[in-house]
Amino acid sequence: MKRRKVLAVTGGAQGIGRAIAEHFAAHGYAVSIADTHVAAGRAVLKALLNKGAHAAFFRADISQEQDVRNWLRATARTLGCPDVLVNNAGIRASAPFLTLSPKAFDLVLGTNLRGTFLCTQEAARLMVKHKVAGAIINIASTRAFMSEPGTEAYSASKGGIVALTHATAISLGPKRIRVNSISPGWIETRGRKHSRRDRLQHPVGRVGTPEDVASACRYLAEHAGFMTGQNLTLDGGMTVKMIYEE
Ligand SMILES: NC(=O)c1ccc[n+]([C@@H]2O[C@H](COP(=O)([O-])OP(=O)(O)OC[C@H]3O[C@@H](n4cnc5c(N)ncnc54)[C@H](O)[C@@H]3O)[C@@H](O)[C@H]2O)c1
Repeated sequence: MKRRKVLAVTGGAQGIGRAIAEHFAAHGYAVSIADTHVAAGRAVLKALLNKGAHAAFFRADISQEQDVRNWLRATARTLGCPDVLVNNAGIRASAPFLTLSPKAFDLVLGTNLRGTFLCTQEAARLMVKHKVAGAIINIASTRAFMSEPGTEAYSASKGGIVALTHATAISLGPKRIRVNSISPGWIETRGRKHSRRDRLQHPVGRVGTPEDVASACRYLAEHAGFMTGQNLTLDGGMTVKMIYEE
């Protein structure tokens, strides 16, 4: 009998990560969620189990080596070795550059970049051990490539994720593991209403949804066997639109 595929997703308790967990579960994957927000994680787990999905939630801080190891090893024992890892958890922070503290900088890099490294390394070790041809998808951001003032830590962490993506794609290619990143632009996770100006920033005429990111993840996982080390910009065309000031 064919083995049920397994998705491991970080930050799956809320926002984009939750949509990724629900999307893959709806397509027959067993889903393992890691998040620091226990109440939200349990709520997603309940919703998934109510829909008949195979799922698990673990409280894990992706910046902590032991948490990451415990989460992914427990996932392999209970649901099976992950076929797909989505490194989605991340924190946003902005602060004026001249007063940005090294501690605040380290916190963002330690979560977004170090967390992506730790999860990728542990998941890849399991994929190699279990002979799984895996797909790893890192959620970066268009802010890896363009900025507003005061976003140094976040932008640097996302630029680091894009570089980590091509580096790990090269190292893990011979192990039959593909690694790609997605750089979302503006994705609405809080149900906010958008103005006409908000919409017109996007050549497609709307702001993105968490489901847009989830379906791009499944594309990379299932339909992109010849693609590795790449970054997929998912922003409704916002970053290719020229702006002329009047
Ligand atoms: N929403 C956007 O417009 C947008 C745009 C570009 C990129 N992104 C990226 O997409 C990802 C998800 O964004 P979102 O808008 O859904 O964010 P969100 O804040 O709604 O959700 C992030 C989740 O990650 C969890 N998390 C935070 N730190 C963690 C840690 N150390 N360990 C484990 N879990 C942790 C949070 O508890 C939360 O459940 C992030 O990496 C973000 O940078 C978002």
